[in-house]
Amino acid sequence: MSNSVVIKNKIKEFNKKIFVSSDKSISIRWVLFASLADGISTAQNLLMSEDVLAAISAIKKLGIKVKINKNTCKIFGKGINGYNYKRNLTINAKNSGTLGRLILGLLINTPNPIKLTGDHSLSKRDFKRIADPLSNFGANFKLRNKKNLPLIINGSKNLVSFNYFENKSSAQCKSAVIFGGMRSNGTTVIKAKKSRNHTELLCKHLKLPIKIENKKNYDLIKINKIKKIKPLKYKIPSDISSSAFFIVLTALSKNSKLIIKDVNINPSRIGIVIILKKMGVKIIFKNKRNYKGEKIADILVESPKRLKSITCPTKLNSGAIDEFLVIFLVAAKAKGVSYFGNLAEMNQKESPRLKWSSKILNAMGIKNITTNSSIKIFGNPNIKISKKITIKDYLKDHRVFMTSVIAGLSFGGEWLIHDKDSIKTSFPNFLKIINDLKK
Ligand code: S3P
Repeated sequence: MSNSVVIKNKIKEFNKKIFVSSDKSISIRWVLFASLADGISTAQNLLMSEDVLAAISAIKKLGIKVKINKNTCKIFGKGINGYNYKRNLTINAKNSGTLGRLILGLLINTPNPIKLTGDHSLSKRDFKRIADPLSNFGANFKLRNKKNLPLIINGSKNLVSFNYFENKSSAQCKSAVIFGGMRSNGTTVIKAKKSRNHTELLCKHLKLPIKIENKKNYDLIKINKIKKIKPLKYKIPSDISSSAFFIVLTALSKNSKLIIKDVNINPSRIGIVIILKKMGVKIIFKNKRNYKGEKIADILVESPKRLKSITCPTKLNSGAIDEFLVIFLVAAKAKGVSYFGNLAEMNQKESPRLKWSSKILNAMGIKNITTNSSIKIFGNPNIKISKKITIKDYLKDHRVFMTSVIAGLSFGGEWLIHDKDSIKTSFPNFLKIINDLKK
């Protein structure tokens, strides 16, 4: 079967209610916390994507039993020290930076060396940013090229806390150190630039010994060694990063309206909503509620009359870091020149995404000036594409695939987009929802 899609027609007006996939960040974190709990944890709506299945395989390799039945996943935790560290163990994080990085925080006490591998894309990514801080606890790392996977982690029995300054707004680095701190003697202090805070919220919900002070530009986190984690029942909400593609599709369509149900609207994740509202898109959170420290709502989006350009405040970057690829499509149609700066981290993702943003915009005929850390987009409210565009060799980055589909459905032209399987990492039913919107 072909592993590419062809988009030939713009999408017609729609007025629908949809459910998108469950939150990937929370799903992976739930699996890891549940693997440490004393007893059986149960999740509903766990994201059944390749990244989360890789997390499940990883904990199974560490001797933790998992049962999946329809919509429910049960993890049979054996306590904080319940992993069975076999000799010559290899854990494959596949495409998942979140799994690869967070799990290292939990393995810093391994008595036997463990090898961590990943797929082609993950093997190109920076693991020094994790190995460096975790070495301070006393664990040892051997990385390919001193930076990449495969790596070998060698744990220590005498783990000591330290003070860490996380300066990249990386929730993965912050979370790995929080996990390490849960295993180490003394108080680990983390001064972290703002990033998604699901790990901290789960720690708080589980009443673990964590203290958090939210300062203006950073968070101060103090975590002590833990003895016990209670099993955790959780119903995973939908992912705002998956919703993003449909929010943008509505923003770029005429006379359309969409409700996206039960989405996690954690304030550290809603950068896209703030940015698009500034650009003139009508977005409303309905039915807001709290759930175990997280915030959930239904998102209502309506097609705007016109789109305004933006100079994006860089303080919104971390809350929209995975969404910029698709946000740039809105800038492509907005009146005027938009500017997005301080985005070097985008090139550290599943593919160098700032480069890919520029390639997609160039293919669309949208002038852009792109550096290693910024992009200036010269919008065209009358944009109409009539040529053939092929998107391939993008390291199978799921978000490059989905952004290209949204561009084809919004602007026309004939798009041949390779590697449709890439969506399996985060949003397996993406194309099905697109088809439902066409009905
Ligand atoms: C994630 C953190 C972010 C994000 C990634 C998921 C997480 O990465 O881009 O998709 O779940 O912690 P960084 O920590 O590298 O910024």
